[in-house]
Amino acid sequence: MFLHGTSRINAQGHLEIGGCDVTGLAKEFGTPLYIVDEALVRQRAREFMDAFRKTGLRFQVAYASKAFCVMAMCRLAEEEGMSLDVVSDGELHTALQAGFPADRIHFHGNNKTPEEIQMALDAHIGCFVVDNFVELQLLNALAGDKGKRVNVLLRITPGVEAHTHEYISTGQQDSKFGFDLGNGAAFRAVRQAIALPNLKLLGVHSHIGSQIFEVEGFRMAVEKVAAFAIEVRAKLGETFSVINLGGGFGIRYVEGDTPLPVSQYVQAISDAIISSCTAADFPLPEIWIEPGRSMVGDAGTTLYTVGTSKDIPGVRKYLAVDGGMTDNPRPALYESKYEAILANRANEAPTELVSIAGKACESGDMLIWDLKLPESQPGDLLAVFCTGAYNYAMASNYNRIRRPAVVFVKDGRADLVVARESHEDITRNDLIPERLRKQAVSR
Ligand code: LLP
Repeated sequence: MFLHGTSRINAQGHLEIGGCDVTGLAKEFGTPLYIVDEALVRQRAREFMDAFRKTGLRFQVAYASKAFCVMAMCRLAEEEGMSLDVVSDGELHTALQAGFPADRIHFHGNNKTPEEIQMALDAHIGCFVVDNFVELQLLNALAGDKGKRVNVLLRITPGVEAHTHEYISTGQQDSKFGFDLGNGAAFRAVRQAIALPNLKLLGVHSHIGSQIFEVEGFRMAVEKVAAFAIEVRAKLGETFSVINLGGGFGIRYVEGDTPLPVSQYVQAISDAIISSCTAADFPLPEIWIEPGRSMVGDAGTTLYTVGTSKDIPGVRKYLAVDGGMTDNPRPALYESKYEAILANRANEAPTELVSIAGKACESGDMLIWDLKLPESQPGDLLAVFCTGAYNYAMASNYNRIRRPAVVFVKDGRADLVVARESHEDITRNDLIPERLRKQAVSR
């Protein structure tokens, strides 16, 4: 069976996560419910931190909060000694509200607004990852207005793109992000950044993709970035002290997925850095990375209640659950695949092939095609695995469906970390203009 972290099947044949029987969680918190295995998140954090400690390099592991950004998760990342990558005022606000130390926050994004930059300046965050020439000038001006000099990394597109098992090296990458290395934009950006009085250039950032299963793409990126650092030192006399290699470490969503242990990615990155720098007598920079999916993906499970079904003989049987694309848009967006079990009858042998449909008014609202399950009844619980990353984060209120609650489970305890949305939450921001209000009927 496909189980991660502390998940197991207990004597009643129920799925148990973090020592909590999920049938009890369904009763207490309702469904759909996102369940996060806290011990597994902490284990992943420690795998990254420990792997870096072994390299002897100076490092920061910044949790890419876009994968799952709620206050409890920011607390947990801080407790594990991580830094935090944010990409919007909303993520920054969440981190600050959670008391995350501002000097360990890195601000990303290809279109930071002046208001977002000002908010981050006022909060004294640790570093801005500058994405383009417009932002370079804007940040310099806004920092100057506040009498500040801020740390920056420049995001460069190294011309390496990695997807799972494939990686490609392109001369010029067609991407909305970053300064292109191949066409000289990155070099011009460095020259400008050095000249701008309110920016302190720490180094460069590159992110080559997501859900990557091999180290080759990272190695190629390191080589390109290191060659660039060496060129900048030679031509401009500027020595980068930080190289940020982004995120992208893959996880196992389904049986066939074969990600590497975290330590292997870290080892490959560190070996590549050390060999490139040593060969050029370049002082070893501090290495930053930004794992998102690999921190929280397999620690998340979504629990649904099975509702209606529709059997089309000779074609397929649809089984509908009480959530769908509103809590997990990834199958609709990316054709992502997931594994699932009947969580209250986990020991029963599968007897039928079903396809799991959501409840949104849209044919594309399918969670899993062709899943083998025991014959199910309305009221059974379906657990979909590996939903910790980019599920709650990308959830929507399409069809005015309320976003589910999130619980952290650990050692038999379940703590609500996000409450289920209420009907009032759904209409909270709605306003009815005077002319559309119902007139009191005069008698
Ligand atoms: N750093 C930067 C600059 C990024 O753009 C990303 C992800 C990360 C770090 C974290 O990457 P990770 O370790 O999670 O692969 N919504 C998509 C994923 C989009 C990823 C965007 N950037 C999905 O559901 O698969």
